[in-house]
Amino acid sequence: MKYQSQKVAYAYFLTAMAVFAVQVLGGLWAGWIYISPNFMAEAMPFNIIRMLHTNSLIVWLLLGFFGAAYFLIPEEAERELHSPMLAYVQLAILVLGTAGVVVTYTFDLFPGHWLLGKEGREFIEQPVWVKLGIVVASLIFLFNITMTVLKGRKTAITNVLLLGLWGLVLLFLFSFYNPSNLSLDKMFWWYIVHLWVEGTWELVMASILAFLLLKLTGVDREIIEKWLYIIVATALFSGILGTGHHYYWIGTPGYWQWVGSIFSALEVIPFFAMMSFSFVMVWKGKRDHPNKAALLWALGAATVAFFGAGVWGFLHTLHGVNYYTHGTQITAAHGHLAFFGAYVSVNLAIFSYAMPILRGRDPYNQVLNMASFWLMTGGMTFMTFVLTFAGTIQTHMQRVLGENFMDIQDSMNLFFVMRWVAGLAVVIGALLFIYAQLFPGKEIISSGDKD
Ligand code: HEM
Ligand code: HEM
Ligand SMILES: [Fe+2]
Repeated sequence: MKYQSQKVAYAYFLTAMAVFAVQVLGGLWAGWIYISPNFMAEAMPFNIIRMLHTNSLIVWLLLGFFGAAYFLIPEEAERELHSPMLAYVQLAILVLGTAGVVVTYTFDLFPGHWLLGKEGREFIEQPVWVKLGIVVASLIFLFNITMTVLKGRKTAITNVLLLGLWGLVLLFLFSFYNPSNLSLDKMFWWYIVHLWVEGTWELVMASILAFLLLKLTGVDREIIEKWLYIIVATALFSGILGTGHHYYWIGTPGYWQWVGSIFSALEVIPFFAMMSFSFVMVWKGKRDHPNKAALLWALGAATVAFFGAGVWGFLHTLHGVNYYTHGTQITAAHGHLAFFGAYVSVNLAIFSYAMPILRGRDPYNQVLNMASFWLMTGGMTFMTFVLTFAGTIQTHMQRVLGENFMDIQDSMNLFFVMRWVAGLAVVIGALLFIYAQLFPGKEIISSGDKD
């Protein structure tokens, strides 16, 4: 560790991994309800467990991003963080808010209360008091990292990272606007849900990848910066108007069908660029870095993100196709592979890289870590194929033949069983990963920094 204050990342990564475990176990639970519909139905209904699964995903990914920023900004800016203390306060607020959401939903506290009760819009279900806490924590975060960058060296990596993080926080403010008109509600809801994953988060991902490849391959900074700017430009150019691919059927004007189709089709470009970028860097790189697991996750992230977001996104993004596939298992297939490939994997890449440094050791448990990569990535790929088959059948029977929704669900049972088995592989992989991070083997003797 070059800078003492980087240590705050450690607390963020540990918390993120704990929530990660909860998230995938929640997925397994939700998947089981698909097989056995009354499973614990009184104690934990499907909608609640599904909410916990998707929201814990967002929470731990954000904790990972915050930790990544605290880890890499001191190194890039070449100075200590403005205030490690504030970073811990921020973490405490976020943990409190997360606990608040879980308790509120599990015991259905304060139903209907404007400040304390559930909000119930997918991904932004937090009660208003938690949303306010998130805003406070985010402002502390932005203040802390911006001050650090302003006082230190400015690089393309810190600039892009700051742009992404500022954007993601500002967009969250739309969660306070909840119009009663359903079309308007959906329109603004996508400002968060879409402009996060297909806009600001892409910038965060690209800058973390750039940082990792800089360290792992030893390629010149100038080359990395050029790529970074291409990725940012194409991501924002396509992603902003690409929001239109969610405006086909919600009551917005018809021209969105063309705007959405054209611009969202272009969204494939930044993901393709990120994948090419990663492989070109490794190919050009002159460094043989000992942390092979971090490199595997970085390359895996760029590749699986291209397939999950780029290919599986394109699959249903043209309005003529989406007319049939909208909201079927095709969507779930894409949602899983895209989130996993892009944001889960890039987080696991920076954890793999940073954890040994934060603990002052050489890279450890490499084989175990790489085994967990293949288990998780293989499991997710299999799950995606299964859901895609299920979604194709569903689309045909439901949207073309017009059969009854519940009858079709029954006929897809075999796919749901296979999805669960694939999910089990992912969960085992995730637990292996966490184990590999937490319990270094005894064989390696500490030798401090390696980058
Ligand atoms: C890191 C891994 C995972 C990620 C990134 C992830 C992500 C997601 C996302 C984004 C959704 C919402 C999908 C949508 O709105 O279309 C979702 C729902 C769901 N996930 Fe996962 N998930 C993961 C692991 C799992 C696992 C291991 C299982 C176990 C079988 C699982 C089962 C489910 C189920 C059953 C739903 C609800 C689908 C529905 O409503 O039809 N997930 N997950
Ligand atoms: C890493 C980036 C991405 C992530 C994490 C992601 C995730 C998701 C998720 C979770 C949903 C379901 C939302 C819901 O209805 O609740 C969704 C929907 C959708 N995504 Fe993505 N996505 C990404 C990139 C893309 C890209 C690049 C495209 C197009 C090329 C795309 C096309 C779509 C479309 C068309 C839908 C709507 C599906 C429907 O009508 O049911 N996505 N995405
Ligand atoms: Fe989108």
